[in-house]
Amino acid sequence: SAAEKDGHDWFMRKEIHEQPRAVADSLLGRRAPNGELQLDEVRLSDEDLRDIDKVIIVACGTSFYAGMVAKYAIEHWCRIPVEVELASEFRYRDPILTPYTLVVAISQSGETADTLQAIRHARAQRSWVLAICNTNGSTIPRESDAVLYTHAGPEIGVASTKGFLTQLVACYLLALYLAQVKGTRYGEEIADVLDQLEAIPGHLERVLEQREHVYELARRHVGARSVLFLGRHAGYPVALEGALKLKELAYLHAEGFAAGELKHGPIALVEDGMPVLCVVPPRGRDQLHDKMISGIQEVRARGAHTICLAEEGDESITAYADELVRLPRVPVLLQPLVAVVPLQLFACELATVMGHDVDQPRNLAKSVTVE
Ligand code: G6P
Repeated sequence: SAAEKDGHDWFMRKEIHEQPRAVADSLLGRRAPNGELQLDEVRLSDEDLRDIDKVIIVACGTSFYAGMVAKYAIEHWCRIPVEVELASEFRYRDPILTPYTLVVAISQSGETADTLQAIRHARAQRSWVLAICNTNGSTIPRESDAVLYTHAGPEIGVASTKGFLTQLVACYLLALYLAQVKGTRYGEEIADVLDQLEAIPGHLERVLEQREHVYELARRHVGARSVLFLGRHAGYPVALEGALKLKELAYLHAEGFAAGELKHGPIALVEDGMPVLCVVPPRGRDQLHDKMISGIQEVRARGAHTICLAEEGDESITAYADELVRLPRVPVLLQPLVAVVPLQLFACELATVMGHDVDQPRNLAKSVTVE
């Protein structure tokens, strides 16, 4: 009923709007009185944690994209090599696992068979398995060595939204905690990043205030045959997630690409009028932002209709953006938290206008319990 959905037409739409709260809840109680980050759930001594020489993340679907973001964060802050692997592929490639490997299984439902089989394989090789999960007492946490619960609350819509954002939060917390224990040179930044994370719920409210603008954009692209998504760095998994949402909900052909890879093939797909959603990195000391702008120029020169997600105050983009959605200014590693939300709104609205059942898309299940 509408009451269950808080007056929204879909659970998905309700869950998109619950994201500020879900993120805030997932950050509660993490700072010790001395200012240090606490993450006792990992259940490894500092000594054991310092011995970890590799992290492998296994997950499926949207959770896999959270893992891709985690790789950027963990490698940058902790200087530990990270592999991210689709759970369904993992054990079949005979992965190298030791007791010094930390395996992180990300699963909203905790029941995904592919992910479950992956952790069984990892534990048989005596690696430490940490689950990041939203469902208390589900199978994956029960079969893991440790579990870090996300606090999204029950997610009903088949396409994950608040589950994804809270997975990102859990991944950032894990990354910061590893950096703290390892004492990397980023150790001093931990308190700053926690402050920035605590500002995210407020930022999300501002993104959600632009919903009508995003819905209008979505409605304008109802007839599209195919939609491309471009991103770089932590924005690359966001592009992949934006494309997945359109496939899942609107049954539209959509592809996400790393913007730098465009010229190596995908640019051949660009046709006149094709919508291309671009996740523009924040302006920073690196060249990511400027390289992204040149990618956007290239697709636009070939007729693409560019819909750019760019931070407030970034005026360099306005000349190349046919449509513009503003994002709050946050560091590049945290940008997925704010950048994915317009893409969720876009897919939800497009699918609604096309007359599809957004909460229960054809051929999909909320959790896939067969391999
Ligand atoms: C299914 C859902 C996806 C989800 C994936 C992984 O395919 O349709 O939305 O991302 O499973 O689910 P999990 O519960 O393991 O995160």
